[in-house]
Amino acid sequence: MSISLEANTRSAELFARAQESVAGGVTSVVRGTSAGWLPYPPMIQRGDGSHLYDVDENEYIDYVLGHGPLILGHRPRNVTQAVAQAILEYGNMFALPYEMEQRVAEKIRERFPSIELVKFSNSGSEATHYAVRLARALTGRDKIIKFEGQYHGWTDATEYSYHPAIKDLGPRTAPRTIPAAAGTPMDYARLVITQPWNDADILRKTLRDHRGEIAAIITEPIMANCGVIPPAPGYLKFLREVTRENDMLLIFDEVITGLRASRGGAQELYDVKPDVTVLAKALGAGFAVAAYGGSRAVMEPVARDEILHAGTYNANVVAMSAANATLDELNKPGTYENLERVSAKLANGVQEIFARAGIPIQVQRVASFFQIYFSPKPIREYRDAAQHADLVKFRKLQVALRKRGVLIYPNGLGRWFLSTAHTNSDIEATLNAVEDSVGEI
Ligand SMILES: Cc1ncc(COP(=O)(O)O)c(C=O)c1O
Repeated sequence: MSISLEANTRSAELFARAQESVAGGVTSVVRGTSAGWLPYPPMIQRGDGSHLYDVDENEYIDYVLGHGPLILGHRPRNVTQAVAQAILEYGNMFALPYEMEQRVAEKIRERFPSIELVKFSNSGSEATHYAVRLARALTGRDKIIKFEGQYHGWTDATEYSYHPAIKDLGPRTAPRTIPAAAGTPMDYARLVITQPWNDADILRKTLRDHRGEIAAIITEPIMANCGVIPPAPGYLKFLREVTRENDMLLIFDEVITGLRASRGGAQELYDVKPDVTVLAKALGAGFAVAAYGGSRAVMEPVARDEILHAGTYNANVVAMSAANATLDELNKPGTYENLERVSAKLANGVQEIFARAGIPIQVQRVASFFQIYFSPKPIREYRDAAQHADLVKFRKLQVALRKRGVLIYPNGLGRWFLSTAHTNSDIEATLNAVEDSVGEI
């Protein structure tokens, strides 16, 4: 199979037309040419299980999976039916409470023992923003610590030092906080102290220097926005201890890892309970829903409406029926074991192919998400990735795979996601495509 990326495809034509009326032709920065979808993104016609079909009738095995939500693949039957039925039976939103909301909250509590009370939002960005606001309200402090290379959504609270240029980084012991987007007030950036991840010594010193100033440490418990970087042994426990010692909150942004790293997220996998957890993506299997929560004591200001949690569409019927059905699907016996089996088969297979070809790579995987770094050494933090991962080689791999019907996110700081819909034959076809692509790298 060879999929054309020429200028005369229907995808190319439609993308050119989109740019006449949709700014940049796409509605999120990760979908367009600047994100690496070159010469144009595939214009999608439909998704089905682990496969995507574009308007030129090309078929792809999809490892982008909507950037993580599609843990059950495209159009999972039970979730789709549950949503359709709920709309037909009740309506799609009330802006008043209803029972399904409690049911989803109860199911979340059952999986995440660190959570006693939750609030729902529509996106990870909103829920993360609320989590930060909650930490500020509880501590009476404005500053937060975040880590280089991590992403917590597009709000002015956290969108700093996402993938900054090496020249802008500043010293490792005191990284600069760099707004990821034009238009962010520098006054807000001053509230964010940036740190390298996986380095306990530097963080310990920073905490000493800023004693009494910091509301929270927010972290992805497994970095999944800089490829995939697991925490160093004991690192999350260290974060738990120092936040307690300094009367700060520990916020786990489990937007990607929650329900994906394991049934109870990264906090279950590494046995560390944060004060606040943010969930989104896999929670709705592709329907827009997010949540944040913590213990009764932590959530008290939210429960008492001191923090004005608002949102016209929060906990709408589509979101809640999707989350309700998704949680049930993920609860089926064998789900995570099967995900682990196909993910290991793919990640190990890729590793072997490059080892045979004599091309040094690092395959860093946790459960059903992984990344390949064209790097001779393991990647432990953003600076490693920026300095050692060959993103040009990665881009070549992505183009070669796309031509062979395998879709991965073009940027080497993204990652591959798997779903319960990926089959052994998908994995075998993907490994054949990788084998076939090696010569083009
Ligand atoms: C770890 C993490 N937090 C927050 C977000 C923001 O979520 P959303 O895109 O739903 O606003 C993302 C999105 O990719 C994410 O990966």
